[in-house]
Amino acid sequence: MKKTTLIKEGKAKRLYNTDEANVVWVEYMDQATALNGKRKDQIAGKGVLNNQIDCILFELLAAKGIHTDFIKKLSDNEQLNQKVDIIPLEVVVRNAASGSFQRKFDVPYLQEFDQPVVEFFYKSDELDDPFINTNQAVALKIFDFEESQQLEKLALQINRILKERFAKAGLQLVDFKVEFGKTADGEIVLADEISPDSCRLVDLMTKASLDKDVFRKKTGDLITVYQEVLNRLNNSQEEAHV
Ligand code: TMP
Repeated sequence: MKKTTLIKEGKAKRLYNTDEANVVWVEYMDQATALNGKRKDQIAGKGVLNNQIDCILFELLAAKGIHTDFIKKLSDNEQLNQKVDIIPLEVVVRNAASGSFQRKFDVPYLQEFDQPVVEFFYKSDELDDPFINTNQAVALKIFDFEESQQLEKLALQINRILKERFAKAGLQLVDFKVEFGKTADGEIVLADEISPDSCRLVDLMTKASLDKDVFRKKTGDLITVYQEVLNRLNNSQEEAHV
């Protein structure tokens, strides 16, 4: 397999066509952004960490029966994915209050919810990714009601799997964002990335942040905490096989 033309350069990844029509080559970059791309830093080693964490999580989700666009890891910072049409929604699942939820409703940090909360945001840089409800998304023909229920169900299944996996690694999954895409034959699959860029993770005991919040809030070193997440995933995996 060979990579050919650049499809697009996003905030953290470059996507290339390959010599196979339905396969894309993904290259994770050493770049972190905040404030919808207004703050942009080069951070050596970030691409490798995100790609490795993402590969572990997508392989786990696939093994648990979630259909994804992931094909295989190519190198430390590259992977192959199925080509999909991304549904222009950020699907957020929250287990406890943080970030925009905490700001919007002025509730205590990490207040736990009895049931996970699913929210949709419309992917639009110009509009700053606004919150969108199901009726609004149906009106905009982003999905139909049946697909909205399918996305919500998938998001909750993914939450259960990730929550359990991170807990084994001594991490609490506070919230995360996923994206879905449609394959050439119209199937909805999990797409994009799952990494500490798109999850809020805190240490189960100390509640210290181990995700992109350290970069957003300038409270710590991104590489140190992402490396810690990768180490914990690798170490807890080994224990599970003993
Ligand atoms: P929020 O609390 O800022 O709405 O974020 C919810 C989750 O979504 C959190 O885990 C971070 C993630 N997220 C992204 O991956 N990309 C984004 O652009 C935003 C705003 C949040």
